[in-house]
Amino acid sequence: MLARAAARALATPSSRLFSSSAARHTKVAVLGAGGGIGQPLSLLLKSDPLVTSLSLYDIRGAPGVAADVSHVDTGSEVAGYAADQLDQALEGVEVVVIPAGVPRKPGMTRDDLFNTNASIVRDLASAVARVAPQAHILVISNPVNSTVPIVASTLENAGVFDPRRVFGVTTLDVVRAQRFVAGLVESDPAQTPITVVGGHSGPTIVPLLSQSQFGKAITGDKYEKLVHRIQFGGDEVVKAKDGAGSATLSMAYAGAKFTNALLRGLNGQKGVVTPTFVKSPLFADQGIDFFSSSVELGPNGVEKIHPLGQISAEEEKLLAACLPELKKNIEKGRAFVAAAN
Ligand SMILES: NC(=O)c1ccc[n+]([C@@H]2O[C@H](COP(=O)([O-])OP(=O)(O)OC[C@H]3O[C@@H](n4cnc5c(N)ncnc54)[C@H](O)[C@@H]3O)[C@@H](O)[C@H]2O)c1
Repeated sequence: MLARAAARALATPSSRLFSSSAARHTKVAVLGAGGGIGQPLSLLLKSDPLVTSLSLYDIRGAPGVAADVSHVDTGSEVAGYAADQLDQALEGVEVVVIPAGVPRKPGMTRDDLFNTNASIVRDLASAVARVAPQAHILVISNPVNSTVPIVASTLENAGVFDPRRVFGVTTLDVVRAQRFVAGLVESDPAQTPITVVGGHSGPTIVPLLSQSQFGKAITGDKYEKLVHRIQFGGDEVVKAKDGAGSATLSMAYAGAKFTNALLRGLNGQKGVVTPTFVKSPLFADQGIDFFSSSVELGPNGVEKIHPLGQISAEEEKLLAACLPELKKNIEKGRAFVAAAN
């Protein structure tokens, strides 16, 4: 083990001599790695060349997932940690992805998960604050609109909050929007970028279709149905899984996609811009201090928060419906942490 670490330490500077764009060594942890999202997410992160070490933690099953994933023939090292090994799992970690918690059953909103997931996320955030205070934290656990403020408040209380390093993963809303629009206009989803802003639950999800050459062609009844499908696409999966949970595979894809974007930013790639739910000045004057909009990712995490740009009258209406709901969700998260102190 020591010999391997020493060899790696020696190898790093010389490899940088030969390539100015050599990737940093990045250790990524998945907390909740044994779950429906955690398992495929761990597999996808194992396939990401920017991940050099993968640390898998869960209260159930992470060592098994780690043993399995570790046989995949990519360069990264994989270690699994049992329930009582959270601190070890977080040692030296630079990026922490959190899909821990319970998912929805049919008829539930994301907010219905609050009671269970709030304390799970708070406790995991405190451990990150203690063991890896410089880590970037990517929150998948729902309700994202509240769990991200919970992470921020927990880190604030520990004196280590840096708004450039806490992200709510809203990428699945973007992935869905791009797929659904591409299906309607028969374009390639990869060439159909759609910006989705706001938060991550029903009416707080605001797709800015007017800013897309493809999206703006969709009007009338088709537009209404499309917006509803983007906002409530998660319900299609919850219903189809019929009690067995919510989106896991598409979420793992989206989580890996966002993690890769962050890693590219951390590695110094310029122009990495994607929507994510972060501490944001955009609507702070209305008491909404977290918001998802296009964010440029860089060596320190959040590099630049882009404004919404020009939006249509329909989008203004969607935004007006989003803001009060989002405000409530954020306040609920903040209040949860405040009440515990
Ligand atoms: N952000 C998004 O777009 C999005 C999309 C889909 C689902 N989700 C959310 O992701 C979360 C996970 O969903 P899932 O389908 O993987 O659920 P799941 O029940 O299959 O897996 C959750 C895992 O978390 C683990 N866990 C519970 N408490 C833990 C703790 N304290 N520490 C570490 N691990 C712990 C469980 O043991 C389990 O393995 C849910 O909250 C769900 O609502 C978010």
